[in-house]
Amino acid sequence: MGERWQAVDDYIAAKLLGDDDALATTLANNAAQGLPPIDVSAAQGKMLFLLAQMASAKRILEVGTLGGYSTIWLARALPEGGSLVTLELEAHHARVAQENLERAGLAEKVDIRIGAATASLAAMTNEAPFDFVFIDADKQSNAHYVEEAIRLGRSGTTIVVDNVVREGGVLEADSDDERIIGTRALFDMLSADPRVDATAVQTVGAKKWDGFVLARVL
Ligand code: SAH
Ligand code: DHB
Ligand code: MG
Repeated sequence: MGERWQAVDDYIAAKLLGDDDALATTLANNAAQGLPPIDVSAAQGKMLFLLAQMASAKRILEVGTLGGYSTIWLARALPEGGSLVTLELEAHHARVAQENLERAGLAEKVDIRIGAATASLAAMTNEAPFDFVFIDADKQSNAHYVEEAIRLGRSGTTIVVDNVVREGGVLEADSDDERIIGTRALFDMLSADPRVDATAVQTVGAKKWDGFVLARVL
């Protein structure tokens, strides 16, 4: 089925997304500089863009920048004067992302902070609340990142978490894979936390079988 999922993603992209030089160049630059091809798909990127616009997001937080592919989609959703903070562990990834954002004409809206996201988040004590948070870094820390998103958000903040299905791996209750343990901890946290309302949607496509959590801070 994988080829057909890819073919449908190609169809969606051809019909609804169009050609996009900045994004195509970003993926090519990422590959040339050795970054892994684990960006969101084009259709998912457009979904993030639309969700951020639907939320009227003026301040966006992203955890996990890689080469800035999802960052570009999200930053394009910002109104005049809007801003995005994105957190990245690897200095090399952050450098490539900075190049890609400059080429896309978005660098002035985006603040890339290098370091472990847990530390960068802990250092955020005087930030205006974020309207939209996209979490897409180390999966073992997802419950903690949602906790921080709630702290740094406000009532109504949208939270999206990528890669919460992983080809059904989420069902493996006795897994010793830290990423699956982390994803299950995220679901446990969301199911018990009265401060958020959440769902998860499974997806297939260019990124195989996976899914995202969509949550709203109450
Ligand atoms: N959001 C990107 C893809 C991110 S891939 C896109 O869709 O285009 C995950 C990224 O998280 C990688 O660049 C990885 O280096 C980064 N990462 C991993 N652990 C991290 C941590 N502890 N803190 C911050 N970033 C981390
Ligand atoms: C991985 C990380 C991602 O954010 C993703 O979308 C796909 C894969 C990974 O670490 O393998
Ligand atoms: Mg991801």
